[in-house]
Amino acid sequence: MDLLEKCRAYTRADETRDVGLYPFYPAFQGPAEGGQAVLDGAEVCMLGSSGYRALSVNAQVIGAAQDAIALYGTSATGSRLLSGNLDLHENLEADLADFFGYEAALVFSAGYMTNLGVVSALAGPGDQVFLDEKAHASLIDGARLAEASGAVMRQFAHNDPNDLARQLAAAPSTSSLVATDGVFSMEGDLAPVAELVAVCEEFGATLLVDDAHGVGVFGRGRGVVEQTGMRGRVPLMTLTFSKALASQGGAVLADAKTIDFLRHTSRPQIFSSGLSPADTAAAHAALREVRRHAEAEPDALAAAAYLRRALDALGYDVADSAGPVIPVRFPDQLSMLSAQRLLVEHGVYTNAVLPPAGEGHQLRIACTDAHTPDVLEAAIGVFASLREDLLPRYRQAA
Ligand SMILES: Cc1ncc(COP(=O)(O)O)c(C=O)c1O
Repeated sequence: MDLLEKCRAYTRADETRDVGLYPFYPAFQGPAEGGQAVLDGAEVCMLGSSGYRALSVNAQVIGAAQDAIALYGTSATGSRLLSGNLDLHENLEADLADFFGYEAALVFSAGYMTNLGVVSALAGPGDQVFLDEKAHASLIDGARLAEASGAVMRQFAHNDPNDLARQLAAAPSTSSLVATDGVFSMEGDLAPVAELVAVCEEFGATLLVDDAHGVGVFGRGRGVVEQTGMRGRVPLMTLTFSKALASQGGAVLADAKTIDFLRHTSRPQIFSSGLSPADTAAAHAALREVRRHAEAEPDALAAAAYLRRALDALGYDVADSAGPVIPVRFPDQLSMLSAQRLLVEHGVYTNAVLPPAGEGHQLRIACTDAHTPDVLEAAIGVFASLREDLLPRYRQAA
């Protein structure tokens, strides 16, 4: 059979397109990170961005990226191993290590590449990788690559250190990597980092926390490892620059020997070009901003707490979550997609979550520092005005 036959037979996207409810690849005309964005020529309240600190529209961050282009050009034009290593990368790594309290850091060209490159380089023949069952796709794909070189991948129940302990106790291997998200991207819940540390220390396993969504938000900007008092006890931490740090790229933090090993063995690091000068400088400037305001609680947290309470009071099925992410559940896919569409038509953009990104039928709402009370009140007004359209769907399904 023709290899591309599966593409011609693929109808999933068309099924939602045909009924006018396709929610993906909206093309924004301008920044998607501020409180407002422009979609199809109309202003919408942006409740779908993970730019929690609204720094991609910050003057210092934009200026740093512009200066870097003027001084270094637009591309690193090579692998860092050979010709693409810039002092910009090394300066950022030094500040990351200092801020997060690790010996060293290594910058990759995406958060996805970071997890892929760290897990696949560290786990090999005879090793085991234990993943939280809701871990991000990049950790899963890293473990799949590790499997191809002889590691064994297992999953433990979501946020369940006891299940992890049971599995580690039964595991014959002594070298195990345990990996979890720090903040789960779709549900917004936090990993029980202290309990996972205790289990990993008991069984001699190495813990990796991917704090893509915690950095810049929790623990005085240092993420959930700091927030849970576990600084110094999580050997591997990864992060992305594409959320609160307003750029592209990612980094791993670890001891100096591990970072040196990854610099020379991690394939997404050595077989891909270095992060661009503009992205590197923007991430660095955003890190400086986060550090400068580290003692103040991010406005995004207060905004999310306010919006969560308001949606709950209006009768929406709001799942429990601690940070800027608010999952709103719907009884079925059609009601969720219809809600997403109606909200966009009334000027509020939220993310529709479908498998494999998440389970169930939910809208993922996220607040940022740009969600001032005025912006939020306007959005809450829309949710209130659509109650009569949206809420009967819960009752019909009940
Ligand atoms: C938990 C988590 N890890 C890693 C990534 C990948 O980050 P990036 O967008 O920089 O590739 C994401 C982003 O979607 C994420 O949510």
